[in-house]
Amino acid sequence: MTETRLNGAATVDGAVRVPGDKSISHRALILGALIRGRSYIGNLSPAADVAATAQVLRDCGGSVRPFGDGRVSLDGAGPGISLSSPSAPLDCANSGTTMRLVSGALAAHDLIATLDGDHSLQRRPMERVAAPLRAMGAEVTTLDGHAPMQVRGTAAPLGVVHHLKVASAQVKSAILLAGLNAQGPTVIHEPQPTRDHTERLLRACAADLEADGVSVTLRPTRLEPFGLRVPGDISSAAFFMALAAARPGWRVRCLGIGLNPGRTGILEVLTAMGARVEVEEGPMAADVEPQGDVVVTGAPLHGVTLEAAMVPRCIDEIPVIAVVATQAEGRTEIRGAGELRHKESDRVAQIVAGLRILGVSVEERPDGLTIEGPARLRPGRLDAAGDHRLAMAWAVAASLIDPAEEACVIDGADVVAVSYPGFFEDLAALTS
Ligand code: S3P
Repeated sequence: MTETRLNGAATVDGAVRVPGDKSISHRALILGALIRGRSYIGNLSPAADVAATAQVLRDCGGSVRPFGDGRVSLDGAGPGISLSSPSAPLDCANSGTTMRLVSGALAAHDLIATLDGDHSLQRRPMERVAAPLRAMGAEVTTLDGHAPMQVRGTAAPLGVVHHLKVASAQVKSAILLAGLNAQGPTVIHEPQPTRDHTERLLRACAADLEADGVSVTLRPTRLEPFGLRVPGDISSAAFFMALAAARPGWRVRCLGIGLNPGRTGILEVLTAMGARVEVEEGPMAADVEPQGDVVVTGAPLHGVTLEAAMVPRCIDEIPVIAVVATQAEGRTEIRGAGELRHKESDRVAQIVAGLRILGVSVEERPDGLTIEGPARLRPGRLDAAGDHRLAMAWAVAASLIDPAEEACVIDGADVVAVSYPGFFEDLAALTS
């Protein structure tokens, strides 16, 4: 296991261009591999998760050709005919998005495939995606609700009205991918709005799709290939924005990041805590996704309450929100976030354990946590727990310790490659 030693930062100042958005990259790869004709992607995320999606598509006969610098060309034959049975189990590695979204695409092809992944992925819930795909006519089996998951798809899936119990963009997207060549309309009702990257890209490809925030209706039509330059990943930029927010006078400019309203909860949370957040919207990326620069300047912060409705809009940022909350005056409560227990690790339990090591007073609840601030963080040994977002949240915490103190040690921080391989280099550039 790697050991990463990190001292507190004296200052944070500068501009950073984080890599392409991971969520959008997965979707662009899958849709490009399905849609008839040649699609192009620029600024594809270099995340290991995204590489897993590209490889899994190739293993199913998909044509995914990188040509350097994050550029990729894809040639599909059309939904229902682009993919075929792989010769071995598909390795989704650590990536829940790969497993769930690809299972949707596979369910709408006449093939049989097994999707598997690492130990972390094998403990994540898969019935939430298996059940709706079964309703559409695919045969899907899981091992007690977990991977390995076997999909025997059908090239003629049924149009079904789905009422989802969990607010999950991954499940919604899997169903939409399975619905592209369904026999009738696919309708999805969500309990809360979630990121709509799949819907936006489908609309850009001329899909017949109506959405009103919590319901989506998709009617199969012929889709057009697309060209998309992926904006920067706001979930990666969030670590630097949170770090800059935590100290008056610290400042970061994040260039060209995605500003999809389903993802911008972090900007609202930091603003509510008292940080200065300036958004300079740029031109839409290929008329599909809003993007622009965001400047965050630190200020004295105060605690906030994060309610369930906000959670899907900042689900992946909660570990770093918890870290920044340690520097805020008063109590920060995170509620309705039980989904965090089903991510790459049990993030509620891991955040609580790590914050206690740093000397923070924190209370764990089944659906969230309460943090008392401000705390003077003390150095310690933190565990990334095989979870990329925890590794980066602990790096932010370590950076907030008095530079005169000892370094923090993060065990297993190389897991950042799952979403952001260059994270430590970019952090060093901003703090030096
Ligand atoms: C994602 C959706 C979220 C998020 C994950 C990526 C996506 O998961 O946590 O990192 O790309 O659709 P859920 O949809 O399961 O909440």
